[in-house]
Amino acid sequence: MHLGEKANMTTIKDLAELKKRGQKWAMLTSYEQMTAEIFDEAGIPVLLVGDSAGNNFLGEQNTIPVTIDELIPLTRAVSRSVKQALVVADLPFGSYEASPELALATSIRFFKEAGAHAVKLEGAHVEQIKKLVGSGIPVMGHIGLTPQSVHQLGGFRVQGRENPAALIAAAKAIESAGAFAIVLEMVPSALAIQLTKELTIPTIGIGAGNGTDAQVLVWTDAFGLTKTPPKLARSYRNLRSELLSGAKEFAQDVASGAFPSEIESFK
Ligand code: KIV
Repeated sequence: MHLGEKANMTTIKDLAELKKRGQKWAMLTSYEQMTAEIFDEAGIPVLLVGDSAGNNFLGEQNTIPVTIDELIPLTRAVSRSVKQALVVADLPFGSYEASPELALATSIRFFKEAGAHAVKLEGAHVEQIKKLVGSGIPVMGHIGLTPQSVHQLGGFRVQGRENPAALIAAAKAIESAGAFAIVLEMVPSALAIQLTKELTIPTIGIGAGNGTDAQVLVWTDAFGLTKTPPKLARSYRNLRSELLSGAKEFAQDVASGAFPSEIESFK
């Protein structure tokens, strides 16, 4: 049953139900109106306004410089554009780590100013998660390769090979704190399967093999806009070459006088 403010809105209860039924689902990132409308129409139940906007939308090298003020308008555009998808706002680096109170103040901004339905934060910040959940804010966890900590982790590398027990402990702590789902990024497939079995909340894999409850991709990786997509992504379309050839064709038509024609003009 859907209990959201929009008649058919996906809720965190729906996602829990999908796990019980063993039904897998997909999550995509979105940073603006058009992709939000399209992915929502495609029936993608969860859209993440990721801090991956940094290196996929805002021209940054990675996610670290992204700010709350940059993500609020992107999140607002996405939440205004969906009819059914649950919109998750990623809390950017520096906006939640210092204290549960800071995490709450940041999340309230995403709820009030941007219409988010849930937030995501990286790492086992148990007190922050408890505070948010206790204040009525659903939280998605994120462990494994947590890009905001890339310098601490020593690069974009698979996590949990050397010390799987630490990753399992982090996942269980996040679940116990009240998170409704957890992203497992760049984790060995066998470990992701174990976590998916041992956790009651849905696991969402990215570079974590085929055994998780759900899969997430950064949309620009999934549809061929990213110049060098990561190994973990599959390219479902090649929008970069489509846009490149379309833009060249437009420029040629303008240069030759073929555009606009009479049909595209007014009397
Ligand atoms: O910001 C993001 O896009 C993410 C996903 C990769 C899970 O955190």
